[in-house]
Amino acid sequence: RTVVTIPSIHAAYAQGTPLSMITAYDYTSARLAAGAGVDMLLVGDSLGQVMLGYDSTTQVTMHEMVHHCAAVTRALDGAPQQAPHRPLVICDLPFGSYTRPDAAVDNGVRCVKEGRADAVKLEGGVHAPAVIDQVTSLVAAGVPVMGHIGLTPQTASAMGGYHVQGRSEAAALKLLEDAMFLQEAGCFAIVLEMVPGKIAEHITQQLSIPTIGIGAGAGSSGQVLVFHDVVGMFDKFVPKFSKQYAQAGAIIADALRSFHADVQAGAFPTKEHTFLIKSAVLSSFRE
Ligand code: KIV
Ligand code: NA
Repeated sequence: RTVVTIPSIHAAYAQGTPLSMITAYDYTSARLAAGAGVDMLLVGDSLGQVMLGYDSTTQVTMHEMVHHCAAVTRALDGAPQQAPHRPLVICDLPFGSYTRPDAAVDNGVRCVKEGRADAVKLEGGVHAPAVIDQVTSLVAAGVPVMGHIGLTPQTASAMGGYHVQGRSEAAALKLLEDAMFLQEAGCFAIVLEMVPGKIAEHITQQLSIPTIGIGAGAGSSGQVLVFHDVVGMFDKFVPKFSKQYAQAGAIIADALRSFHADVQAGAFPTKEHTFLIKSAVLSSFRE
């Protein structure tokens, strides 16, 4: 059984092995992702849009994060033959749950204790949203932290929407500063979201912790995508940076249409789906 840990993530990074991370929000998808050998599962607050139908991640609560995180980590328990690969699980701290260091620690501890996460992720750096003291306090409390800079969805509205970040020299320098401070504060890795490829590559070269890119080109230490984008199950919006490796949504829709049509036509269930009893029992039952 291979168990992914923060030291094993750092060992892979030191060897130049690219790291894979995918979002997971429930038991079934977590089992699929673990079975595929993915290095890290992110219980992302993108579950607000993908699982709960909110129009922003800002509505997601701590209760919802812990509820989904616990479902994900339950999928990784069990006998080695049933779960031969255990990815590292990172739980997003939702908007408003880390406004002060003590709140960050309380909520980070909930992710570990109730959600059974290995680590948490929060958005921001040394500039607004400023989270360096929160990172320091979480790490001191024994909660490993993944940073997240560039496009930070929890404050996207203040940033004027979902736009590429770090396109000007000043903006790119701020990103580099954020990354350096997050590393100094003790983050074990940093997500770079929607950053020009060359900027992400430069930041990655300056750091001694791995970067995980999303819409950040090929120069990061690893890549993260949203589960539903990868399998083709979210058709409301397909970001330029994501890749659909399957059209699972279309396959599922087909299956559901067939089920409905079969029921209407009386073609399901048949004898093979039906439980039988002895005819003698049936006769006396009917009398
Ligand atoms: O919530 C999420 O899915 C994320 C990733 C896009 C990095 O934070
Ligand atoms: Na997130």
